[in-house]
Amino acid sequence: MATIGFTVNNKAVSVNAEADTPLLWVVREHLKLTGTKFGCGTGLCGACTVHVDGKAVRSCQTQVSQVSGKKVVTIEGLSPGGEHPLQRAWIAEQVPQCGYCQSGQIMQAAELLEKVKKPTREQIVAHMDGNICRCGTYPRIVRAIERAALEA
Ligand code: FES
Ligand code: FES
Repeated sequence: MATIGFTVNNKAVSVNAEADTPLLWVVREHLKLTGTKFGCGTGLCGACTVHVDGKAVRSCQTQVSQVSGKKVVTIEGLSPGGEHPLQRAWIAEQVPQCGYCQSGQIMQAAELLEKVKKPTREQIVAHMDGNICRCGTYPRIVRAIERAALEA
């Protein structure tokens, strides 16, 4: 067991866990932030996407020891009150079906809009390529990102 300190959604936290515990489980089980989902556990779906120092990462493939001293943001901390342009656009475009993949989709999209304010459709599709949605909401995801980009 190790004690590992980092920030989550701008709050300093310290957790006791094995160094190789996936960040996903620390976020969900230790910190009770259950917006981040377990999909495949093998880095293939993106349901577990969070930001570490501003970069979208797969928390199922990130050991908690790797985020020591870093800044982790989960869907709960993306914006105060769920008012991020992407979150508003997701509602306006009625993107989710079952909803399971959507936290990861939004966190992946948020990384893109941080880097590229007005992405082309091709850039959006390329950036979102690895995030799987079993309900096939892809066209609405693209539309919502385009809508959010208009606001940015
Ligand atoms: S649960 Fe992490 S990529 Fe699927
Ligand atoms: S909305 Fe169901 S998996 Fe994406």
